[in-house]
Amino acid sequence: MFEQLKALPSDPILGLLTQYRNDPQANKVDLGVGVYKDPQGHTPILDCVKIAEQQRTATEDTKVYIGPTGSAQFNQLITELAFGTQHSALLANRIRTISTPGGTGALRVAADFIKRCKPNAVIWVSDPTWANHTGLFEAAGITVKTYPYYDYDTKSLKFEQMLQALSQVSKDDVVLLHACCHNPSGMDLTTEQWDQVIAITTKQGFTPLIDMAYQGFGQGIDEDAYGVRKMAEAVENMILCSSCSKNFGLYRERIGACSILGLNAAQADIAFSVLLYVVRCIYSMPPAHGAAIVETILSDQKLKQQWLDELAIMRNRINGNRQMLVNKLIENGVEQDFSFIANQKGMFSFLGISPEQVAALKQQHSIYMVDSSRISIAGISETNVDYLAKSIATIL
Ligand code: LMR
Repeated sequence: MFEQLKALPSDPILGLLTQYRNDPQANKVDLGVGVYKDPQGHTPILDCVKIAEQQRTATEDTKVYIGPTGSAQFNQLITELAFGTQHSALLANRIRTISTPGGTGALRVAADFIKRCKPNAVIWVSDPTWANHTGLFEAAGITVKTYPYYDYDTKSLKFEQMLQALSQVSKDDVVLLHACCHNPSGMDLTTEQWDQVIAITTKQGFTPLIDMAYQGFGQGIDEDAYGVRKMAEAVENMILCSSCSKNFGLYRERIGACSILGLNAAQADIAFSVLLYVVRCIYSMPPAHGAAIVETILSDQKLKQQWLDELAIMRNRINGNRQMLVNKLIENGVEQDFSFIANQKGMFSFLGISPEQVAALKQQHSIYMVDSSRISIAGISETNVDYLAKSIATIL
């Protein structure tokens, strides 16, 4: 049975975790996987999560199956967080949400759901996009094509080319957009650019799928959801995949959500029944623990405020790291302009160096990043930034 198989390379992002862990160098630097780290290089459990977990442990009274939708309370609260409590689509009962195993689970459910809606739909993703998007949609039998997005030379958006490409997309296709903190480039659409993308979406009639894995990491909860909320006001159908991995620091608990927007409540109900069927055929029902923590936090005003404060600390620290790296590069005599890093948003930016230079940083300096030169900004700290900047200066 297995004799035909050929070994596949390790995942371009997750594979770095093992390489980093096995590196014996004391001064090694991990800029690989997108996880938040504190100044000590540790990924802490948020205090609000600790409190919520204690409360849940004290009150939880069953481990019986939760069902394919997951927790109804979580679904409502996470929908309100994404869309806002007074969103017209919410008030018109056009949105249905399920809990999923992480944002990746939400995307995989969305992929199978799209396949059932339109078996020949093409999904258009930004060039570049998160490395796992392509594999994930292709695994569901969907053709993936790209639209221009990031200009590696000017370190800015190829916005006109993006609009040009989107204005050719068929109404039967799907366009994947990053809500905020574009992974891997850190280049987000401005609100004016969102408005233009939304205008083309309604004109062409294709379905937007918005991936929101970093709500709150860019500028704030509401600011980061601008595109999601505006788009949902304008279109007939939409899919939103969101994640609680980063903003609640619940990475290994695997909690995310998939929301679908119907033309009206009746259509949303029909689509929802298909979504649940898809879930049943993949993993039957989601894990419950992460959702329980999130709903405990979001349903308690004090805990919610504590979470927003902790989220702001993470966001500000990442933004501070951006400027700190740029300053240190200048201090270390780097003449190349890296100021773009300070202006980008979220967990990632491209350094813009060659794969050979990325390999040299890894082999000679124990500095780990994705081959594309995507760096996880959260991995920079006051302790390692000097070494990092010196090493970059050396390989340049
Ligand atoms: C990343 O892009 O590093 C994160 O989203 C983690 C992952 O699963 O790839």
